[in-house]
Amino acid sequence: MAPLTDEQRLVRDSVREFADAEVAPLAAQIDIEHRPPLETVPKLAELGLLGMIVPAEYGGSGTDTLSYIIAIEELARACATTAVMVEAHTSLATWPILAFGTAQQRDRWLPALATGEKLGAFALTEPGAGTDAGAVATTAVREGEEYVLNGQKVFITGGGYAEVFIVIARTSHEGAPHKGLSAFIVERDTPGFTVGEGERKLGIRASSTPPLMFSDVRIPAGALLGNEGDGFKIAMATLDGGRTGIAAQAVGIAQGALEASIAYAKQRVQFGKPIGAQQAIQWMLADMSTDIEAGRQLTYLAAGLEDSGEPFGEAAARAKLFCGQMASRVTGMAIQIHGGNGYTEAYPVERAYRDAKITEIYEGTNEVQRMIIAKSLLR
Ligand code: CAA
Repeated sequence: MAPLTDEQRLVRDSVREFADAEVAPLAAQIDIEHRPPLETVPKLAELGLLGMIVPAEYGGSGTDTLSYIIAIEELARACATTAVMVEAHTSLATWPILAFGTAQQRDRWLPALATGEKLGAFALTEPGAGTDAGAVATTAVREGEEYVLNGQKVFITGGGYAEVFIVIARTSHEGAPHKGLSAFIVERDTPGFTVGEGERKLGIRASSTPPLMFSDVRIPAGALLGNEGDGFKIAMATLDGGRTGIAAQAVGIAQGALEASIAYAKQRVQFGKPIGAQQAIQWMLADMSTDIEAGRQLTYLAAGLEDSGEPFGEAAARAKLFCGQMASRVTGMAIQIHGGNGYTEAYPVERAYRDAKITEIYEGTNEVQRMIIAKSLLR
């Protein structure tokens, strides 16, 4: 990896400063309350963090992918929920409009998304379509100049507050299941569209992940993203970029846990000296730091490939696979260093340990990443 540019370093330093001042102080409380930190949204918007990948002509910051990834990492170092709020809004809702939207769709949606006036979400998963994303059963039936949506989505990150949804629905039952899917841009206030109660989760508890219900939801034909039948490929391409974002989230969670462990190792005294003087603790810290740096390099590599216009889906899968498992390992060691204290809510590593696990699951489980990597190896 080439060293970071001055601009990328500036992003890292300014987002870290912001996250320390505005994001970290809320992290423990919003976790306890299972409440998304919506009060942070205007501050994220003011810093340009909700439209980083959006060109300036649409009101975004127009940064490269790596800068955006660094920002996600820095947010996650302070609060995993805040990081995924920005990640899902950017990678999963804004990016597909940027990549596949018509000029009219871009003009209509990107300025509101880039400035944070509206937040976005991505609705692919259903009770019967998790890893098997091609099994989506929500239907979109064309009637004149409208589509009529019926069905249900689950675990929709940001669903509780998002106003713009990328919805994957079935427009055809002919041929292979994935070929009958299409993508739509759906507004929250459309009649028949309701949002259920959010799930109570092991980690990222403050993140909103409710089910969505569509009951004869009529949307204009112009809400179709791409062509009919493109939905699966749009979803897969969207997730390629999203997976680098989740890898960055995992790196940030692990980095936060490492820093907390270093501070603890310096101040916790046992046997008459700080525990950091014990080789057992030193070796754990060294292993954690090495693991994190390896994950960071894989993540930056995937982002760098995207920036240079090269295929990056396999690299993103590799980064997410490694970083999800790495974050679980590192946060587990962080608890071990903290001993009994680390097992309590009084120390941030307890939350980090719970938050890390989801990075092995959402935007494709470890097993999905292995399928993608293996398929590419055997092609
Ligand atoms: N980009 C573009 N096209 C792609 C693609 C990609 N990355 N990957 C596959 N395709 C195309 C293939 O070329 C193929 O095209 P043809 O039909 O023309 O041949 C088609 O899509 C089907 O591909 P596969 O045969 O590989 O598809 P599959 O049914 O075997 O599924 C899978 C592969 C990788 C398992 C996929 O279903 C998958 O990614 N599943 C996991 C879903 C997932 O990640 N969900 C996350 C939900 S969102 C979320 O979690 C957000 C959050 O909370 C924050």
